[in-house]
Amino acid sequence: MCGIVGYIGDRNAIPILLEGLKRLEYRGYDSAGIAFYENGGIVVKKTVGKLSNLESKINGHEYRSTIGIGHTRWATHGRPTETNAHPHCDCSGRVVVVHNGIIENHALLRDALTSEGHVFSSQTDTEVVSHLIEKYLVEGKDLRDAVLRALGEIKGTFALAVISNLSPDRMVVARRSSPLVIGCGRGEYFVASDVTPLLRYTRDVIFLDDNEVAVLDKKGLEVFDVESGCRKQKSTYHVTWDADLAEKNGYPHFMLKEIHEQPQAIRNTWSGITLVNGKDGLEWRDLNLSRDEILNLSRIYLVACGTSWHASLIGKFMIESLARIPVEVDLASEFRYRSPLIDKRTLTIGITQSGETADTLGAMRKAKAEGSKVLTICNVVESSATREADGVIYTHAGPEIGVASTKAFTSQLVALYMFALFLGRVRGLVSDILFCKFISELKSIPESIERVIERESEIENLANLYWERKNFLFLGRGVTYPVALEGALKLKEISYIHAEGYAGGEMKHGPIALIDEDMVVVALVPRNSIYEKMLGNVEEVKAREGTVIALTTLGDRYLRSKVDHVFYVPKSNDLLTPILYAVPLQLLAYYIARNRGCDIDQPRNLAKSVTVE
Ligand code: AGP
Repeated sequence: MCGIVGYIGDRNAIPILLEGLKRLEYRGYDSAGIAFYENGGIVVKKTVGKLSNLESKINGHEYRSTIGIGHTRWATHGRPTETNAHPHCDCSGRVVVVHNGIIENHALLRDALTSEGHVFSSQTDTEVVSHLIEKYLVEGKDLRDAVLRALGEIKGTFALAVISNLSPDRMVVARRSSPLVIGCGRGEYFVASDVTPLLRYTRDVIFLDDNEVAVLDKKGLEVFDVESGCRKQKSTYHVTWDADLAEKNGYPHFMLKEIHEQPQAIRNTWSGITLVNGKDGLEWRDLNLSRDEILNLSRIYLVACGTSWHASLIGKFMIESLARIPVEVDLASEFRYRSPLIDKRTLTIGITQSGETADTLGAMRKAKAEGSKVLTICNVVESSATREADGVIYTHAGPEIGVASTKAFTSQLVALYMFALFLGRVRGLVSDILFCKFISELKSIPESIERVIERESEIENLANLYWERKNFLFLGRGVTYPVALEGALKLKEISYIHAEGYAGGEMKHGPIALIDEDMVVVALVPRNSIYEKMLGNVEEVKAREGTVIALTTLGDRYLRSKVDHVFYVPKSNDLLTPILYAVPLQLLAYYIARNRGCDIDQPRNLAKSVTVE
């Protein structure tokens, strides 16, 4: 995800900004820039690629300024180019902004501002902020009021820092959903997306809360509420973390941080999708898939590897259920070496977090060569998959550092769900009312995940009981069978315990021979149409002395007497169940691996992106 830094005080801001951006490199980025006030104007320096490129642009010049902002960009809207890199200016070059987050209504705001004569230079959603502030500055408002007015028009998430040569002695910062921290020094302030860049200067910090704006100058700091404009009192915290913990925002591992980031990753993913009512009905902006193509589709292939393949298996349920289009799911490494039936009515979608997985790219290229339209669902802007596909659906999960995929997986499921809904809507199978109902159910998922995470100690307790076991079996049926596969993969890849995922109905065809008092069976038993079938599996395991950990729907009263442990998951519609059931399994794998002293973020023999066959 993007990173923001800022400084105002008596020191030279430029080295402080560059050092701060270096401390944010771990967040992943594809371009960077700084802006500062000097000699009456705003100087902006930005480049694509690594910070060393930015430093090369700045070194050798005797720039000196006491106020500035900086940014590392993880591209979400618009390619990683110098033009799209932050900071972004208004038409006059007097207002400059850095932003982390997603502006959902950026397209509408851009259209309106353009019609008022504003000229845009980038493809980013962020640039609308600088022009909105310019608009209200021109109307005679001071920088703080202009920012407040601008934020009142923005839908979506932001962490913002703004400076202007019209107010050279102050900086305005704001936050909604994207973190922003203010470091308090003596007659100086430091701003950053997290505490990491602040620690070398101060440990006394103020964490902005949602919908708060702060005005910083050398004399002090004031915080206001975005909606009311009223002043707010804020407490200063003394941070005790070291830099390593700070990079993980206080979590011991990136994987646990990323598990906890899933509610926001899911909100960002659906926020990054723009559906508009066009002349012929619902359109998915920037997807490059026409209504006629959708109506003419005869088959969809989903091709992927590993966890992304598990997401594809769930995507099959979503698309066939909502859009009634036949879906075939293939391991990319298999698809690329067989002879799939492909014609111009075929759509192939490569699902990949990294966008660089060799087998997935190979499968996409094969499909394209044989005449299929090719899309990708991907988490990395400008990765190979996004450059080679005819259209891209981005998951806005932010950089996923842990090798074991978590937030990217659940974000892929959100993208697949939205895509299935869109296809169903276009094909006239999902009514207006149903569409709104399905969207509303999706929007309840982040809070349901937060409810699950609130009870993670229950999962930790289970891990403390069973971390020394040698074999686990994960059972699911229907849409939770791929979740069983995913739970097994999470456990084996970070704890090195042998684990298998199986369809419950297959137990009597072999795996039941494995059951004894040493086998731990994790059974996914949501209250759905096959609940009783899964109950049968649970009973056959218990009859053979196996240990059963069951996940079931909150409110179920029956299962507890049948198994050894129950973890309750909030109710959701069947197609969204996999998102909620994946989270406890991610946590179970995490805590078992922690107890076993494994290298959770970089498990042995594994790479985050398998760029070779
Ligand atoms: C998942 O936890 C693993 N890291 C691995 O299976 C991964 O999902 C697979 O390599 C595919 O990666 P991709 O999504 O980047 O293509």
